[in-house]
Amino acid sequence: MKVLAILSQKGGVGKTTLATCLAVAAEQAGKVAAIIDLDPQATASFWKDVRQIDTPAVASIQPVRLPAMLKACEDAGTDLVVIDGAAVARDVAYEAARHADFILIPTKTAVFDTMSMTHTLDIVRQLDRAFAVVLTFVPPQGQETADAIKAVAELGATVCPVTIGSRKAFFRAQAAGQAVQEFEPQGPAADEIRRLYEYTTIRIYNEAEAA
Ligand SMILES: Nc1ncnc2c1ncn2[C@@H]1O[C@H](COP(=O)(O)OP(=O)(O)OP(=O)(O)O)[C@@H](O)[C@H]1O
Ligand SMILES: [Mg+2]
Repeated sequence: MKVLAILSQKGGVGKTTLATCLAVAAEQAGKVAAIIDLDPQATASFWKDVRQIDTPAVASIQPVRLPAMLKACEDAGTDLVVIDGAAVARDVAYEAARHADFILIPTKTAVFDTMSMTHTLDIVRQLDRAFAVVLTFVPPQGQETADAIKAVAELGATVCPVTIGSRKAFFRAQAAGQAVQEFEPQGPAADEIRRLYEYTTIRIYNEAEAA
């Protein structure tokens, strides 16, 4: 079993959206996926409540129960656990990062958000975890993306080669309890998620081999 954590102490950067879409991508690739929702706002669990499909399983828990829940997932034959983190809470990010094989840190391209990302970076570095920063809400054009890539690189962090555009389909899919690749399979957002899943899978298994 592998554990992917989606973490950022910044709110509204796309953590839950990426967690749900990547867990569904794993299911579509024939894996058994589960989402562990560590956010007291329980957004991923609400997504599951409106979802018409039984998979992936979503469990809303307190961070202190994470080791026991991971063991339960492993015992149940889960291939990939996706942990959806919570904004602000440093202890939640720390606990999730501790158990993760790989961490994605979603960041909006606005410079302010890139700066606030450093709090999460500090945690993953302290724990020596494998991670990448993934740019989200990327506008169709403008200088922001190039500036953000440069700012992240200057922090010495790896930038994920796949970026996630600012697209209504993400919002609409989320509201309907779907992943974007279910909502609009041929759309550009679905394509971004497929490529992000591919990149994430490569990183997770490479890190496992290197360990
Ligand atoms: N790439 C995107 N383009 C447009 N809308 C998006 C995108 N990603 C997420 N959204 C929408 O933006 C809102 C915030 O996204 P999401 O809930 O995934 O962020 P979050 O980081 O989990 O927030 P929180 O910190 O509150 O948990 C949601 O309504 C979601 O549907
Ligand atoms: Mg969330």
